[in-house]
Amino acid sequence: MGGREATMVLLDENGIRCDGRKVDETRRVMIKAGGLKNADGSAYIEFGDNKIVAGVFGPRDVHPKHMSDTDTGILRVRYHMEPFSVGERKNPAPSRREIEISKVIKEALEPAVMLEMFPRTVVDVFIEVLQADGGTRCAALSAASVALADAGIPMRDMVAACAAGKVADTVILDVNNEEDQAGQADMPMGYMPTLEKITLLQLDGILTPEEYEKCVEIGIKGCMQVYELQKKALSEKYFDGENGKGGRGQKR
Ligand code: CDP
Repeated sequence: MGGREATMVLLDENGIRCDGRKVDETRRVMIKAGGLKNADGSAYIEFGDNKIVAGVFGPRDVHPKHMSDTDTGILRVRYHMEPFSVGERKNPAPSRREIEISKVIKEALEPAVMLEMFPRTVVDVFIEVLQADGGTRCAALSAASVALADAGIPMRDMVAACAAGKVADTVILDVNNEEDQAGQADMPMGYMPTLEKITLLQLDGILTPEEYEKCVEIGIKGCMQVYELQKKALSEKYFDGENGKGGRGQKR
């Protein structure tokens, strides 16, 4: 992204973006808690055309054993893209990009997960991107957070994520793939809404200090919208869903 000349109109004279959104509008987001019966916890998210599933196992014994920590539990995250998830077939072997995204998602979740309660154990988070359309790390992080809650892992807060960015010298919320490729900046953010703490902030592109402030402000607003949908997904499963009244605490 960045650097490349825009070949399409990213923002028209009425302030409408290439996919019909206003500058401060996210794509349609749908989150479902649970769904995978063999994982301890799971979640599915659609964030625009992104389709991502997250499965959680743990806390469980660490293998290999030397990785375990006697003082705390550890978190492992694997972000993986299916070969059919992008326009050009993706090699199924882990790429540098997937290793980097796995690391940033892990670091964005760690402040929220109460790993100190489970010394010598591991919580594994597996993320599969089924379809990608820009902003997969944010969508994946949001789904992983719901999957951890669904697994009953004690957490200080949820982590909700959304990107802000810049196209046509204008700050926008939730950057799609075209905007990422042809725009000027992409700034993915992860946020703990109750603790009011940012756990992920990356920036690809260039922003002025004023634009940066505006991106943080609008990005947090996007995260808050995602947070509402994360809570809704969990409440649909545990209070209103198939488990019905008193279904609290039941799995799947
Ligand atoms: O997905 P995210 O924005 O977090 O990460 P990125 O590295 O900025 O990738 C932006 C987008 O490029 C992805 O969401 C995919 O839609 C696309 N992509 C692709 O088409 N082929 C790849 N091998 C990797 C990414």
